[in-house]
Amino acid sequence: MKPMALHCGIEIGDVALASCSDAQLQAIKQAIYERGVAVFRDQDFTPRDHIAFAKRWDGIDVNAYFPLDPAFPEIALVKKAPDQRTNIGGAWHTDHSYDPVPAMGSILVARELPPTGGDTLFAHMGAAYDALSDDLKARIEGLEAFHTADHVYSQGGVYAGTDQAGELRGQDVTTGAVHPVVIRHPQTGRKLLYVNAAFTLHFVGQSREESLPLLMELTSAALAADNQCRLEWEAGTVAIWDNRTTWHNAMNDYHGHAREMHRITLTGETLAA
Ligand code: SIN
Repeated sequence: MKPMALHCGIEIGDVALASCSDAQLQAIKQAIYERGVAVFRDQDFTPRDHIAFAKRWDGIDVNAYFPLDPAFPEIALVKKAPDQRTNIGGAWHTDHSYDPVPAMGSILVARELPPTGGDTLFAHMGAAYDALSDDLKARIEGLEAFHTADHVYSQGGVYAGTDQAGELRGQDVTTGAVHPVVIRHPQTGRKLLYVNAAFTLHFVGQSREESLPLLMELTSAALAADNQCRLEWEAGTVAIWDNRTTWHNAMNDYHGHAREMHRITLTGETLAA
């Protein structure tokens, strides 16, 4: 196992995900809970392997918005064609925080990559919380926040006016959930900052306008370089991340080239302070 950066990410070698043992899977899970994201290179991982491996976790949460693989509807397609300008996931976020029981994590498989670019950045929310000043920690103690995806995926939402709009589903889906701003990781007990710039609209009891200064302060602190790692995809790369422990951001720096990834989102549990 090789750390990708100071706090975030780990590369795990010498394991074939498609046929790993239960003991290997347990060690992989623990590494992901702690480091936020694990990267596996040179994997022979068909769509059937992807689904079978995902079923060894606590279930699959099918994403309501992304196009699905027609042959394997458990698999969401995260893709950008050479003539598209907008990518999916190209801003800091954590998947499904708008659900009352947010997805535990995601398994992303590289299927087609641009010649350069298309990296994914991750930021570790345990390291982010630890590095907050005592004053900031005191200000968010006991706070809860409201999360939704309606402003992103609805008919008037962020993607509506983009060249991804035609392929996305769920424009009529409505979402909304309240979670503590600081959660305890369900498996490790570590304190994690659980707001994100994409889906967290406001703190409970405050308007959007009242909430924005603190949300921006937290976002800026969370994205300190020490908290981040960068994944450069290669053919055969699989990444598995923990949505409670990390945020991620897909770089959109490969216009004119295709990028296609297969994502399965893993069922999580209710989050608590
Ligand atoms: C996502 O799940 O947000 C997409 C990540 C990526 O395409 O790198």
